[in-house]
Amino acid sequence: MKIKKAVIPVAGKGTRFLPATKQIPKEMIPIIDKPMIHYAVMEAVESGIEQIIFVTSSGKSSIEDYFDRNMELETFLENNGKSDYKDLIHKIGTMTEVLTVRQKEQLGLGHAILCAKDLIGDENFAVILGDDLVLNGKPVTKQLIECSEKHNNQSVIGVMEVNPQETNKYGIVEGSFVEKDKTLAMTRMIEKPEPKDAPTNLATPGRYILSKNIFSILERIPRGVGGEYQLTDAINVLAQEEKVFAHIFEGDRFDAGSVNGYLEATVEFALRDSKYADVMKKIIKDKVEKYSIR
Ligand code: G1P
Repeated sequence: MKIKKAVIPVAGKGTRFLPATKQIPKEMIPIIDKPMIHYAVMEAVESGIEQIIFVTSSGKSSIEDYFDRNMELETFLENNGKSDYKDLIHKIGTMTEVLTVRQKEQLGLGHAILCAKDLIGDENFAVILGDDLVLNGKPVTKQLIECSEKHNNQSVIGVMEVNPQETNKYGIVEGSFVEKDKTLAMTRMIEKPEPKDAPTNLATPGRYILSKNIFSILERIPRGVGGEYQLTDAINVLAQEEKVFAHIFEGDRFDAGSVNGYLEATVEFALRDSKYADVMKKIIKDKVEKYSIR
């Protein structure tokens, strides 16, 4: 079963980035020269996803526009001898098919995913949380799709080891390894447990391949942590009803949804980009001297 669709929830208010997010969606804040959401969509496209479903709310239409054609801009760039930029803009506007569905109330991640039910239909799908960026040769979603294919097209949760003191920021999985240090058959998933209650330090940064059966569970789960309908709670039920795997993916993850993580991602992305690496190294070197950083 080929995974063709990815759900990317973008309905959040982005309060950690106020006042910028008073007027622009958090997802459109750039890391260097591309909006944050560009990286999540690229990950999907490079993983073989053919259709992106954005779960949106009011004030988010610039995200849809970004992935649409802009003929006026393309013509302007072409007529002004800027064909490199024209090609870039054309590529972004044609790289994938975008559908949107509104989440009319902010009732949690589980509720956001349920909003995409009719657009997903009768197939398994990927979920990508765009705040969490992962840099790697092979996109994380592709790693998870391959793991799912290897395990009879079952659901797979992407996980990484986190500081055991920080389990209360994530969905945490428990299970037994079926492939050493890589893949677990999941027995349980808990949303944001306190360190003393966490069975492991294996956390998801928001990468999932989910069975279509998750929808009927999302329709019946009660509200969970924070009074919200939690995707984690639905996955926990799914794991009692069918096989769910957790896969420790390869790659460096950045929490670009927090200002600290965003700053780190900006520096690191520049250092990894041949166009900006030298200038970023010089900036860092100069600042280290100027501010006597040790
Ligand atoms: C959500 C999920 C959580 C996951 C996290 C990754 O939480 O509920 O399971 O680990 O994303 O960023 P949020 O950060 O939206 O509170």
